Amino acid sequence: MDKIVIHGGQRLRGEVTIHGAKNAALLIQCAALLTERPCVIRHLPRLSDIATMSALLAHLGCATSGDRTLKIDPGGVREGPLEAPYEMVKTMRASVTVMGPLLARHGRCRVSLPGGCAIGARPIDQHLKGLEALGAKITIKHGYVDLKARRLRGAAFMFDTVTVGGTQNIMMAATLAKGTSRLENVAREPEVEELARVLVKMGAKISGAGGSVIEIEGVDELSGFDHAVVPDRIEAGTFAVAAAITRGDVLLLDAPVDHMHATIAKLEEAGVECRVEADGLRVVGPERLDPIDVTTRPYPGFATDMQAQMMVLAACASGQSLITETIFENRFMHVPELCRMGADVTVHGNSAVVRGGGRLSGAEVMATDLRASASLVLAGLVANGKTEIRRVYHLDRGYEQIEKRLRALGANIRRFHGGKA
Ligand code: UD1
Repeated sequence: MDKIVIHGGQRLRGEVTIHGAKNAALLIQCAALLTERPCVIRHLPRLSDIATMSALLAHLGCATSGDRTLKIDPGGVREGPLEAPYEMVKTMRASVTVMGPLLARHGRCRVSLPGGCAIGARPIDQHLKGLEALGAKITIKHGYVDLKARRLRGAAFMFDTVTVGGTQNIMMAATLAKGTSRLENVAREPEVEELARVLVKMGAKISGAGGSVIEIEGVDELSGFDHAVVPDRIEAGTFAVAAAITRGDVLLLDAPVDHMHATIAKLEEAGVECRVEADGLRVVGPERLDPIDVTTRPYPGFATDMQAQMMVLAACASGQSLITETIFENRFMHVPELCRMGADVTVHGNSAVVRGGGRLSGAEVMATDLRASASLVLAGLVANGKTEIRRVYHLDRGYEQIEKRLRALGANIRRFHGGKA
């Protein structure tokens, strides 16, 4: 199994180009299931999650080719199994968002229940309630959800909780329903807006994406699309923290600044200089970081996907920070590992008190989920001595060649494949 070894203490300097957003891309891949026509997705990051979604599309009967530019021909799905098997859904929860498009386009599908994951229970009740409101008949048996509907019909639906995947799933389903749908209390994340942009290119009639009410007038069929994925706000945020904590000076080329207001506000509060330039965001770390209080919230609030990384910044700050997680109930898996590196963090329920000031020290640590792994890499960049991170396959789900890109900025970081460099 691969591991990453970092010798901390280097200031990061230079430029890094931000790749396409994983969470936007995965849903755009799903959207191809709404049509029979060929689709092209450009600017895709080379990540294992994207490859898993491509494999699922192929399993469903799509012909796929390419990676940075992916061509999907969904013509063969009609004869396919219309089923997302457990093996695929368990490695990537976003697989459940094939449900809406398959049901809307083909009138039936069978999708494995995802179960919990490291960061919490993560139910899909809102996805199912929303589809039921559009007329789906749902049965759950042997760990699978069976969905059927002759033709979905437009309806009003109010989400009980703000869910990104749920909003995207129901929005896709409603594009091919008969009549108009009104979705309330929807997620406002940029990934919802990005998906709506693609659906509109396909001929869908959608208004309100980016706000908390979305209206969709169903159409009879949708066409293919050609779309370049928006850059990743979380990847950009992670590199921004890397620059901030190493007292670095890094230009994040193509950073989607408009989607990063909450992260930038917290970095600035910590004393980090964030300068919007013509081609991206320049981040300059101060000699001394100030403590910060952060509470994760649905967009436009502070993203839960940046919480672990921000905790490393708090650990480097002089003083006490408070970090509160309100989206997922178990998203402090990185805390014990950061503590093994010398961080002083105490968890009380869904809040963590971080007493910064001390220098982190390198240690052998283990990645537990995607963003937790990113936080360990960040900690390794500033720690005294050698940090060894195992189970880096979590990292490969969401960051393309992070070690090469950090090395290009001056970090002393290497990947060992099964023990060899
Ligand atoms: C998406 C992102 C993930 C990010 C998360 C929060 C993708 C592929 N993944 O995940 O990286 O961390 O948003 O920004 O885009 N919930 C329910 N019932 C449901 C669905 C969700 O109770 O049917 C709850 C969840 O347990 C959680 C909250 O709603 O507490 C948010 O989950 P959700 O927005 O659905 O996360 P994902 O879409 O899975």
